[in-house]
Amino acid sequence: MAFTYFFRDLQTLEMLCEHALPYLKTKMNIRIWDAGCAMGQEPYTLAILLRERSTSMYFRNIKIIGTDLDGSNLFGKIIEEASYPKEQVERIPKELFKKNFNAAEKENHFQIIDEIKKCVSFQKHDLTTLVPIGQDFGVILCKNVLLHLNEKQRIEVIQMFYDSLIEGGFFATEQTQKLPEEVKHLFEQVVGNAQLFRKIPKK
Ligand SMILES: C[S@@+](CC[C@H](N)C(=O)[O-])C[C@H]1O[C@@H](n2cnc3c(N)ncnc32)[C@H](O)[C@@H]1O
Repeated sequence: MAFTYFFRDLQTLEMLCEHALPYLKTKMNIRIWDAGCAMGQEPYTLAILLRERSTSMYFRNIKIIGTDLDGSNLFGKIIEEASYPKEQVERIPKELFKKNFNAAEKENHFQIIDEIKKCVSFQKHDLTTLVPIGQDFGVILCKNVLLHLNEKQRIEVIQMFYDSLIEGGFFATEQTQKLPEEVKHLFEQVVGNAQLFRKIPKK
């Protein structure tokens, strides 16, 4: 099972919401790709944070597609059920937990409310195929995944992300991941304290 947890690297996710939302709010439909989403904790965290900063009408236009290699073939079902054991939800800030989770049928499990669940879907996908799951993403989030690839694959995958973003779209990765020199010219860094980048239009 992949290592991940709810509200991991909250700083990057908050920066992403703060900087991307004003731009995304000018668009009708917002598509977000969370590449390497593991069992859904990250896309659901992002959905909860975006819901906090949007009206319910606007939030309905946001779709987060989580993808993962999913070697165990289990992530799709876990994400669809959106039911997580008690120990996995204990770090979630209390107010947000109360608002977004209900006790699940299964003992000691908590299920994410429908409004948040509807925002997130899952597809099995291998980034190294370099075939994107679609185009016109407002945001691509890929955290703690690129380190599993070699340098050539990392460059190619980031180029694929660039091509799959709308003009002015955002790309976020983990704090310790620096952009390789070969793709630096494609993005501008949005803030100094997070690996949050914005697509520079093609010349
Ligand atoms: C450490 S988890 C990261 C989960 C989440 N993004 C986070 O930051 O907490 C790494 C995930 O990357 C996925 N992964 C590794 N190589 C991949 C590839 N080539 N294509 C898609 N996903 C991959 C793994 O299956 C795993 O679920």
